Amino acid sequence: ARTAAVIPAAGLGTRLGPGTPKALRPLGGTPILVHAVRAMALARAVDLVVVVAPHDGVAEVRRLLDAHPLPAYDVTEVLVVPGGENRQESVGRGLAALPTDVDVVLVHDAARPLVPLDTVAAVIAAVRAGAAAVVPGMPLADTVKEVEPAAGSGGPETVTGTPERGRLRAVQTPQGFDRAVLDEAHRRIGLEGEGATDDAGMVERLGRPVLIVPGHEEAFKITRPLDLVLAEAVLARRRA
Ligand code: C5P
Repeated sequence: ARTAAVIPAAGLGTRLGPGTPKALRPLGGTPILVHAVRAMALARAVDLVVVVAPHDGVAEVRRLLDAHPLPAYDVTEVLVVPGGENRQESVGRGLAALPTDVDVVLVHDAARPLVPLDTVAAVIAAVRAGAAAVVPGMPLADTVKEVEPAAGSGGPETVTGTPERGRLRAVQTPQGFDRAVLDEAHRRIGLEGEGATDDAGMVERLGRPVLIVPGHEEAFKITRPLDLVLAEAVLARRRA
């Protein structure tokens, strides 16, 4: 019975600006992906990390990880496999690479390099305690509107509803799963539609309960240029 973390890192991160794939850009002088791998490996329970690299970037990612080894006392194994067209496909390829003795799987965005150990540990503990699926969730600061697209092109959208903010959560990663449940979700739901932005959503569609544990503000996703500024500041504060 082992715990593995799959890290989809095959996205281009175009919202961050053109250039190197997002996970390979530096944060505090070290690639974002390396921070994410360390954040998973830091959890004692995590035995194996599977990094899903850009499709033609496996060798480059392998070299990068070898150039930034884990501390000597950390025996976490790190595999690298090629990614797919969208996040869901990339996660599917990571799952396909897991050995049979893995029974708990975390899926963690490379783009959330600063997730604290306590959040990772809380997710693993909740799955080990019997939950099929667990996600870290944060209350929202903003009120959220549901909208209808503009009739013509370029016109304003129309608001169709305002979900009660107190009942909404912004979810983060790592999302934790009973391995058999996540495999089934990818087998059954994975064939439908556009590609999920979140693995727990696929488990919900199977009709299985998904539990929330408290998220953490430092588990935010680096998406836009301002997020990188914030991440640098968080890292500088940690190192101070
Ligand atoms: O695009 P977004 O920020 O939602 O991506 C979330 C995560 O999914 C990122 O870590 C990104 O590298 C990964 N991803 C992937 N394969 C894709 C697209 C995104 O592994 N084809």
